[in-house]
Amino acid sequence: MTVIVMAHNKGGAGKTTSAVHVSGELKPKKALDLDTHKGLSIIHGLRPNDRQIPISIPETQQELVHEISLFKDKEDILFIDCGGFDSDMTRTAVAYADLIIVPAKDSLTERIGLMSFDRVLGEISEIIGQHVEAHLFLCKTNPNKKHYPKLEALLPSFKHIKLMKSRLSYRTQDFEETIETGFGITESVHGRVTAGGKEVISMVEEMLEIVKSR
Ligand SMILES: Nc1ncnc2c1ncn2[C@@H]1O[C@H](COP(=O)(O)OP(=O)(O)O)[C@@H](O)[C@H]1O
Ligand SMILES: [Mg+2]
Repeated sequence: MTVIVMAHNKGGAGKTTSAVHVSGELKPKKALDLDTHKGLSIIHGLRPNDRQIPISIPETQQELVHEISLFKDKEDILFIDCGGFDSDMTRTAVAYADLIIVPAKDSLTERIGLMSFDRVLGEISEIIGQHVEAHLFLCKTNPNKKHYPKLEALLPSFKHIKLMKSRLSYRTQDFEETIETGFGITESVHGRVTAGGKEVISMVEEMLEIVKSR
């Protein structure tokens, strides 16, 4: 079983939107929604009955751990969308994760969010006695911009966050509007050949490579 967690303690970074696109391509056996807005559950609920991705909303840490414990098969993927806040629930999800992915752009508030999340990952590492590593991807960034000097300058100070090669750029049509149907961009007609679709495919490939290399 592989537990993939979308997390960033700051709200509005792009977790839920990215979760729709990534889970649409990844097709996890199940998704868990830890956000108080229940965004991912509501969006997945827009999918037709025969194309549902099963989703649960654990209300307590015990329920979360129980959901994770149900997954025994090595091939199965459990995908968890966290809320934009620090809580025992999100910490538990992170502690059980095989892969933690973190969306962020190079803005001051998101850099502050990342600094705080790196500290939280340090605390979780201490508690579980294992070095927790999270993988940051640029999200909602200009697709034509190659470098982000302020974020790049900050990266070496992180003990638990590494930058991925893949990104999900700022794309109103491909990323913001597609999810109105409940589907990710790579599930829509011709979506796989759009600029956004190609980003999602690369992103999922990189995620699976990281999981395999562990
Ligand atoms: N790649 C993207 N391109 C354009 N807009 C995006 C993208 N990702 C997220 N958004 C928009 O940014 C806002 C916050 O995204 P959301 O997924 O709700 O973040 P979070 O789950 O981290 O709080 C939403 O208005 C969403 O439509
Ligand atoms: Mg969200």
